[in-house]
Amino acid sequence: MTTPLDLFPITTRVDAGGRLWLGGCLAGDLAREFGTPLYVYDAETLRARMREARSALEGYPGPHRLAYAGKAFLCLGLAQILQCEGLDLDVTSAGEMAVARAAGFAPQRVHLHGNSKSTAELSEALDWGIGTIVVDNLHELELLRRLTAGRSARQRVWLRVAPGIDVHTHPHRKTGLLDSKFGFTLETGAAADALRQALAMAGLQVVGLHAHIGSQVFQPEPFARATALLLDLAASVGFAPQELSPGGGWGAATSPEEADLPLAAYGEAIARAAVERCARHRLPLPTLVIELGRAIVGPAGVALYRVRSRKEIPGGRTYLCLDGGMGDNIRPALYGARYTALAADRAAAAPEEVVTLAGRFCESGDIIARDVPLPRLEAEDLIAVPRAGAYCLAMSSNYNLVPRPAVVIVRDGKAVLLQRRETAADLLARDLPLPPDWSP
Ligand SMILES: Cc1ncc(COP(=O)(O)O)c(C=O)c1O
Repeated sequence: MTTPLDLFPITTRVDAGGRLWLGGCLAGDLAREFGTPLYVYDAETLRARMREARSALEGYPGPHRLAYAGKAFLCLGLAQILQCEGLDLDVTSAGEMAVARAAGFAPQRVHLHGNSKSTAELSEALDWGIGTIVVDNLHELELLRRLTAGRSARQRVWLRVAPGIDVHTHPHRKTGLLDSKFGFTLETGAAADALRQALAMAGLQVVGLHAHIGSQVFQPEPFARATALLLDLAASVGFAPQELSPGGGWGAATSPEEADLPLAAYGEAIARAAVERCARHRLPLPTLVIELGRAIVGPAGVALYRVRSRKEIPGGRTYLCLDGGMGDNIRPALYGARYTALAADRAAAAPEEVVTLAGRFCESGDIIARDVPLPRLEAEDLIAVPRAGAYCLAMSSNYNLVPRPAVVIVRDGKAVLLQRRETAADLLARDLPLPPDWSP
C-alpha cells in the first residue's frame, strides 16, 4: 500500500518534531524564504529518475537514446541539468526551443514535435540545424518541402504515426487513436502514403518513425504494440528506419490509489517488440529513442501551499482553501487527476479529519485534492503536495491575474531559485494604455 510519504522525493525525511525536509531543506524554511505557493524540485530524485529511464532500454541489443519531453516542465536551470546529463530534448514550440538554446543544447540533440507548427517555427528549427523534425501532417510536409528547397543539408525527419492503439488513460491523454488530431493515421493508409511522399522529397532525410500513444499509461503492452506497428509500417513501404521512437507516456503515480511500475517494464516491452519485429521483417535494429516527461520530472516536484482559510459544512465537506490551485495545477480539473498531501509541519501526525484542498481561483472545479486525511489544520498552516513536478507549472496560467509561483531546486541542504515568483509588474508588462485620442 502506497502512503502519501512514499510519493515524496527520495531525499524526503520527517524529523522527530514531525517536520518535513526536502533535499536537506526544511519545507517550512523554504516557504518562509521563497513564499508560497512554491514548487520545490529535488535534484537527487531528478537524477535517479533520469538514470532509471536511461537504463530502461539496457536490455536492447541495438543503440538507444533517452529524450526528455520538455512539455512536462521546462525552465533554463532544468534544461542545463538535462544537457549535462546527456539527455536529448523534445520541444514543441519556439519557446521551448529558445530555452534549449539558452541552456546550450546542441541542436542535433533536439527534436521538434507539434501538430500545428508555424512556418516561423519550422524555419527557425531549420536555421538552427535542429536534429529532427517530427512531421505530423501533410500540410507540414508540404511546408518543409518548400522551406528546405535550396538548402545544402537535408533535414532529418521522423513521421508521427497514429497507430490506432487504445490505452487505459483519461480520454484527453489518448493520442494515438484513429480519431486524433496527432499524426498520420495507420489504419486508413495515410501513414504509408505520407511515408512514401516524404521519402521522395529531396530536402528531407527520413530517418525514423514515431508514435506517442498517450500519457499516464501504466501498462507496457500498448508500447510493444506501437513499436511493432511502426516496424510493420516501415516494412510495408520497404523503409529501414535508422531510428524508432515509440514515444513517452509512462505513468507516474500522483496519489496513493495509483502505483508506480518500474520503467524497466516499459523499456523491456519496447525492446522485445523491436527485436522480434526487426527479425521478422529482416530489418536492422534501429536506434530506439524514448521520450519521457512525467516519469522523470513528476516524482521530483513538490508543491507547497499555505492554508488561507477553512470552511466546514455541517454534514458535508470540510474545505481547506489554499493560496494556489488551478492556476499552477490544472490537472485535477482537466483530467480528474488525483493528488494527496501532508501537513508539512506535522507530517507524522495521525489524521484527524478528511478534507478537500480547494484552490483560490474562481471556479468550483478548482480543487487540488479531495478526501485527504490530515491532522486538523488552520489558516497559515503549510501543505505539501507530492508528485507535482510534471504538467503542473508547465500548464500554469495567470487566471484571475494571479502571479505564477517560484521554483527552487534543493540539494544537500541548499535551495537554488530557478524561477522567481511572477509580480504584478510582470503581469502588466505586455499591456499598453489606450492612446489619448481613443474615445471610449
Ligand atoms: C510526442 C510526445 N512525446 C512525449 C510526451 C511525454 O509524455 P509523458 O510526459 O507522459 O512521458 C508527450 C506528451 O504529451 C508527447 O506528446
